[in-house]
Formats: sequence, C-alpha cells, structure tokens
Amino acid sequence: MAESITLAQLYKNLKLALRNYQTDTPELEARIMIEERAKLGWSDIVAYPDKVIASDIHAQILHDLDVRLQGRPLSRIYGIREFWGLPFVINDETLDPRPDTELIVELALQRLDKSTGGHILDLGTGSGCILISLLHEFQNMDGLGVDLSPKAIEAALQNAERNNCKNRARFICGSWFESVTGKFDLIVSNPPYIANHVIPTLSTDVREFDPILALDGGDDGLQPYKIIFSQIKNFLSPNGIALFEIGYDQKDDVTRLVEDSGLALRGVHIDWAGNPRVVEISCGDK
Ligand SMILES: C[S@@+](CC[C@H](N)C(=O)[O-])C[C@H]1O[C@@H](n2cnc3c(N)ncnc32)[C@H](O)[C@@H]1O
Repeated sequence: MAESITLAQLYKNLKLALRNYQTDTPELEARIMIEERAKLGWSDIVAYPDKVIASDIHAQILHDLDVRLQGRPLSRIYGIREFWGLPFVINDETLDPRPDTELIVELALQRLDKSTGGHILDLGTGSGCILISLLHEFQNMDGLGVDLSPKAIEAALQNAERNNCKNRARFICGSWFESVTGKFDLIVSNPPYIANHVIPTLSTDVREFDPILALDGGDDGLQPYKIIFSQIKNFLSPNGIALFEIGYDQKDDVTRLVEDSGLALRGVHIDWAGNPRVVEISCGDK
C-alpha cells in the first residue's frame, strides 16, 4: 500500500520516473495523472505544494505510472484525449487523435467565414475529433461523420454530446461514400495512410494501441485516397473545398492522384514540424 505524499513530492517523483522512461513530455504527463486521479490542476501544484495526497489516490497514480512505463499511452489509460482544446473519449477502435491533424481545423478557419452555414462531411471520423472541432468553430454548420467501425461511431456520438453539438452532428457506419447522399461545402478526412508493410516498424505506442483499421492504407498507403478521389466530385459542392491529411512522405503521390482524378489542387500545407501534412482540393478546373 502506498503512503500519503505531498502534492509537490508526487509531481517531482512522477516527472522523474517519466523523464527516465524518456517520454517526450514528462511534465505534461505528470500533470495529467494528478489531474485525472487527484482532480488537482497545475495551479494547485503551484499554490498548494504541501497539500497531502491520500494513500489510496497515491496508490492509483503509482499503478497508472506502472502501466505507463510498460508502454501504454496515457490517453489509452484514461480513455480521453484533448484535441483542439476539447475533450474526446477514445476506445480500442478509435485512433488516438494527433496534434498534426488540428491543421485541418486551422485551414478550415482560414478558408470559411465563421458565420456561414453549410454542410461538412468527415470521412473516417474515428472519435469525431475533426468534425466536432469544426462544428464547435462553425456554429451555423452541420456535419456528417462516416466510419467503418461501429465502436468508433459510438465514441463519436459520445463526443458530440460531450462537446455540445449533438443536434448538428450525424454519424453513420459505412465505407467512405457508400451510404452518403447530398452535397457538402467542406469535406475533411484523415484516412488510414500507412503502407501495410510499414506497420510492423511503427513505434510500440502506435503499433500496439492504435487500431489497424485506422492505420492500414493498403499495399502503397494510398488505397483510401484512390477510392475517395474517384468519387468526391459527386459529393463536393461546386464552391466546396476538401482537406485531406497525408503522410509526411506522400506529397508527390497524393498530388499526382489528385491530378489524375481531374480535381484541382489548391495547395499542400505544412505542419508545425515542417512536413507536408494537408492537401487542399476543389472540383474546379485543374
Ligand atoms: C487515421 S484514422 C482517423 C480518425 C480521426 N478522423 C482522427 O483524425 O483522429 C482513420 C479512420 O478511418 C476509418 N476507416 C478505415 N477504413 C474505412 C472505410 N473503408 N470507410 C470509412 N472509414 C474507414 C478508421 O476506422 C479510422 O477511424
């Protein structure tokens, strides 16, 4: 049984253990663990360093630390991940949302007026993080999220409720455009884009904890783009735009597919690490 401990000492111990394990953000992870179990934030750590954490809570946190040090990401321990400043529940059939993907939301904000109405389609919605963040920003728009995984749809529905956009979000289980009807002003997608032979080489936290359906882009990593680009003109409004996340090394292949499909390439956008990350497409002339 763990003993009681002061908040400052607990924070220090967690940081040290996480740093020794070489996590990228030991301070942030230590804070998340304290927040999840002790319900105390950064301001409490600063203002009340001598606050005593009861032994049962200390024991829970030490157990979480143990699981974390065996390789499980914190988001998979607590089943929650922040994206675009909003909380998203995740489960074993949803991708753990990545900060890089927020670039799609940023670009949509640059392209569309916040007051405009219209319809958004999110293909491969997973936890619903992209669609729900967009609906949070564009209060006059509504949206449809599609995913092949029924459990991902369950998570997306919970997240729409949690983030107060349930009345403007619909979700359907199906393959890409298969069950979709209508035209959309904005189509977004972060499809699976890892070539299947590359999957065994991915880091443990991705390979072991993200679902294969969210990763596997077929033999060349391009299969979902090929399917989607071949049909997108039937679903994108004449003035609509589409934003697709791509892998860091897929710029040439994906832009070639865009051009081969008779779509107009409006731009390739770079993420915070300097990698090409989002392609912007419209139906217009090439
Ligand atoms: C890379 S994940 C992206 C999830 C989420 N949009 C995000 O950015 O975190 C790709 C998603 O596509 C879904 N998916 C895979 N094949 C699909 C298909 N044929 N039709 C619809 N969704 C599919 C997966 O289940 C997964 O949720």
